Amino acid sequence: MSRRRQIYEGKAKILYEGPEPGTIIQYFKDDATAFNAEKKGTINGKGVINNRVSEHIFTRLELIGIPSHFIRRLNMREQLVKQVEIVPIEVVVRNIAAGSLTKRLGIEEGSPLPHSLIEYTYKDDSLGDPLVAEEHIACFGWASQEEMQDISAMAIRINDFMAGMFAGIGIKLVDFKLEFGRLFDGDFSRIILADEISPDSCRLWDIETNEKLDKDRFRRDLGGEAEAYQEVARRLGLFPDGVSEVLDLDSERKKRGK
Ligand code: TMP
Ligand code: ASP
Repeated sequence: MSRRRQIYEGKAKILYEGPEPGTIIQYFKDDATAFNAEKKGTINGKGVINNRVSEHIFTRLELIGIPSHFIRRLNMREQLVKQVEIVPIEVVVRNIAAGSLTKRLGIEEGSPLPHSLIEYTYKDDSLGDPLVAEEHIACFGWASQEEMQDISAMAIRINDFMAGMFAGIGIKLVDFKLEFGRLFDGDFSRIILADEISPDSCRLWDIETNEKLDKDRFRRDLGGEAEAYQEVARRLGLFPDGVSEVLDLDSERKKRGK
């Protein structure tokens, strides 16, 4: 792992050069940050779980015709993905009011929205990822109008699919964030889903109790974040032989420096 050329280190992932041109290895860390990295910590086993959860969701989305960068999972913390040019827009889809929407507009957390809402933020940490309108995206050329049509259509389909998938395991999909990339073929490019989908990038509440099963446990110092991530993985049917066995194996490997 450490012998490969590192391309980029983000807050929760490291990107390494892949084995073939046009491929990248995505390594999932246990590091967690919030509020534009003002708050830093670790969630034990998060990288292993997010790698699996994201693999599961991207694979299922591919089956309903959502193209993505995902090629295959390599090991507990790494997956092979297609190299893309990331569109500098974070796409947030909301079904229930929570997080920054409640603060911005004074809406009570937990209020169901009359219809799903798509929001866009400009991906720039130095600016704190500000909310932008489609007009800004067109005006500054961050994505073309055609690309935005593809992005919004995919975001709605992904929301419909994921809301159903999570409802089936007793979880409300409150909101989530997506990133898209341009996959080049000569002079042409097409938009595909990129990054990850995991309890880091979604708000997931238990249907019965509204218990938070996502990164808000870390953001809001609620405790039990590792257990919440494990619970999502367990309900999705991942780690059929037990998540703690897999995480123990991972920490053994880490101790040996592998
Ligand atoms: P927000 O309510 O803080 O704007 O977050 C909306 C959704 O986007 C929520 O599910 C968490 C996710 N998200 C990220 O994945 N990365 C981020 O940097 C932020 C701010 C939110
Ligand atoms: N990942 C973001 C950060 O640290 C924020 C978040 O997920 O709340 O800055």
